[in-house]
Amino acid sequence: MQGQQTTVFSAVLGSLQYGYSLGVINAPQKVIEQHYGRSLGVLPEEPLLLSENGTGTEKQEVHPSVVMYWSLSVSIFSIGGVVSSFLVGFVGDLRGRVKGMLMVNVLAVIAGLLMVLAKMWKPHVMVIAGRCVMGFYCGEVSSYVYREIAPMAYRGSLGTLHQLAIVTGILLSQVLGLEFLLGNDYYWPLLLGLSGAPAILQSLLLPLCPESPRYLYIKRGMVEEAKNSLRRLKGEYDPSADLEEMRREKEEVEKEAQVSIAVLVRSSLYRQQLFVALMMHLSQQLSGINAIFYYSTAIFEKAGVTQPVYATIGVGVLNTVFTMVSVALVDRAGRRTLTLIGLGGMCICAVAMTVGLVYLRVYSWMSYVSMSAIFLFVCFFEIGPGPIPWFIVAELFSQGPRPAAIALAGCTNWTSNFIIGMTFPYIEALCGSYVFILFAVLLFGFTVFTYLRVPETKGKTFEEIAAVFKKGKKPGTRKTGTETGTGTGTGTSTELEQLKS
Ligand code: GLC
Repeated sequence: MQGQQTTVFSAVLGSLQYGYSLGVINAPQKVIEQHYGRSLGVLPEEPLLLSENGTGTEKQEVHPSVVMYWSLSVSIFSIGGVVSSFLVGFVGDLRGRVKGMLMVNVLAVIAGLLMVLAKMWKPHVMVIAGRCVMGFYCGEVSSYVYREIAPMAYRGSLGTLHQLAIVTGILLSQVLGLEFLLGNDYYWPLLLGLSGAPAILQSLLLPLCPESPRYLYIKRGMVEEAKNSLRRLKGEYDPSADLEEMRREKEEVEKEAQVSIAVLVRSSLYRQQLFVALMMHLSQQLSGINAIFYYSTAIFEKAGVTQPVYATIGVGVLNTVFTMVSVALVDRAGRRTLTLIGLGGMCICAVAMTVGLVYLRVYSWMSYVSMSAIFLFVCFFEIGPGPIPWFIVAELFSQGPRPAAIALAGCTNWTSNFIIGMTFPYIEALCGSYVFILFAVLLFGFTVFTYLRVPETKGKTFEEIAAVFKKGKKPGTRKTGTETGTGTGTGTSTELEQLKS
């Protein structure tokens, strides 16, 4: 493999690992719950039979403490992510991207080991600890900083590869989670622990990867080293065009002062952009997508589907296919349109899921309605609300406030992911068949919000985007930095200076 391909492949392994960790706890839920129950002393020592008649009508009660520990095992992953979203870039800036990745890979290996060895001590404690560390790791590797390790020519496609690798990771975890493979009483610790495996492969490949030329040039000002790095990546060629591009970016960075998170939150200059960015991340998570990715096997079983694990794999396949569709559409149809179609479609599907679940007792064919609605729900998600929030933040903000905005958006995303992962089993117990109505109402609200407040960013410069936000402002509001084109215009600098002092 050439330097370039090795580098891209190594970076993508991080995203694959993130997807694997998202999806891995779905299929083996029942098996692991039994281990938790036995270790907590609320279940007999012998394994219970799993799905009795496959129709879900014989409901097996799960002890409340098992429900609590299971929900925590699912959602603690996001708490790790919340913490690391504030540290994004820190490790990479410290010793360079390659060494930074090698350092955080140690965490993934520790997390994997905690889960592989889960049966040796209290499984619920080992799994919760392992998933928390893994979440922290994933928050770091899924950040933009590490993807920057890829050469310039690959940056656009790598953004897309990131979401594709996530969905591939989810699908891989669903397939390996089949009962006859690893999703059984014997192998489930290996199934969970394998989430650390891509980090081992990545650590073996990283010494073959040159340091990021952008890091060397822009962060460290090491022009010669950046040139050598470019040659290791691309072979013998004239690097002047790439160096010129980096020089311009360095100039941009130096022109606009960095805005801290505290200043960004308090500044009225970026309020509208920030509101839109955070709402888009909230809509991605509070749409209920991860209720499906974490709990679909249990949901399908309740909806009367006879082979719930295979239906879950169906979800993974559609998820992957529609991510590819989105890749093809996103630069043609635009972000706003795709988000609107996605959220609106998901809202209708959530209503259809509810109808299917409520009338299942009356008409058995309603299980097909629920199943199709879940499939379509995922397809609509991947068309827009899935991939778009991840890159729209960088389009809404210029260099100065961008890192702070990305950290806040990441934190909002992981926090709302945690809320859904932790509370879904309780909300479901409370609302029964009507659980998806809650998401339908939220989705309706987010669709209206997108229609009224989200501008189209496709093919627009920061100045043009800022002008759209300005139009929506009350008269007499001060000019924003992006409106002045530099981010250090009078209005901006005066307010930012006041906030900093
Ligand atoms: C997005 C979401 C993630 C979700 C995934 C599903 O990456 O951020 O939470 O599980 O899409 O494909």
